[in-house]
Amino acid sequence: MDVIHSAAALRARLQRVPNNVFVPTMGNLHAGHIQLIDIAKPRAACTVVSIFVNRLQFGPREDFDRYPRTLEADCARLEAAGVDVVFAPDEKEIYPERQTFVVEPSDLQYILEGAHRPGHFRGVATVVLKLFNLVMPHSAIFGKKDYQQYLVLRDMVKQFALPIEIIPAETVRADDGLALSSRNAYLSAQEREEAPHLYAVLKKARAEIESGARDFQRIDQQSMAELSRRGWQPDYVAVRRRADLRQPSERDRELVILAAARLGRTRLIDNVEVTLR
Ligand code: PAJ
Repeated sequence: MDVIHSAAALRARLQRVPNNVFVPTMGNLHAGHIQLIDIAKPRAACTVVSIFVNRLQFGPREDFDRYPRTLEADCARLEAAGVDVVFAPDEKEIYPERQTFVVEPSDLQYILEGAHRPGHFRGVATVVLKLFNLVMPHSAIFGKKDYQQYLVLRDMVKQFALPIEIIPAETVRADDGLALSSRNAYLSAQEREEAPHLYAVLKKARAEIESGARDFQRIDQQSMAELSRRGWQPDYVAVRRRADLRQPSERDRELVILAAARLGRTRLIDNVEVTLR
């Protein structure tokens, strides 16, 4: 496994491989990330993973400075997973000058996560386009844990006609249902015990819809109220159409329920898909 820090060395290394598959990350890797690598590996001769904590996608009051940076442990996991190339640039390598050209995603960037994290998806799309230009993969794997991110990037590739296949991967969870996330490390022992209830509330909402409930806004509000009662500060729980995250009509069959809520100082997100017959 080659660990590469500069863009020039990355280009030189990848010149030798005509096709590669790419898994972008911010490091502090867990089993959710490793699953993306397991999906990537059989698809190409070369699996490239990037580790870069992208300042551009963090708001001024977010956790950029305290985001866990664990490069050595990450590289050990990636080596064990059979990764070929790790690209771990420092900030100067990706942003040698102020990034003045940016990718402006569709209106999808302003709702749900985007409404609570202004500029977040612009920062994500901009760095991912830049990483795509460096790695030039034929496919890239993204987790549905970050559902809206996956949709934004899928649309970006389509609208810019990038020759890259975007492949979604299911959310990996702990045994108690909590979606794995680097941010789980911020939780106290007591918060960690409460944390699986975010998924429990989503599953309850899904069960209601599966048994015929169609008053989606009532379900949103009821789910948020339940989280509040349990001591969370919910940003949103929202039943949406899977295709574009807009409000569903009674006829929509492919839905997703998305949630974001703060538990103490930690903001967690999760979602479940619902398919109606
Ligand atoms: P990061 O949060 O490190 O996640 C990297 C990839 O792992 C994303 O595609 C994310 O959806 C996926 N992932 C995280 N937790 C997961 C889980 N429990 N199950 C399945 N997949 C999971 O997402 C980012 O980094 C950044 O925004 C990035 C795309 C790298 C751009 O900076």
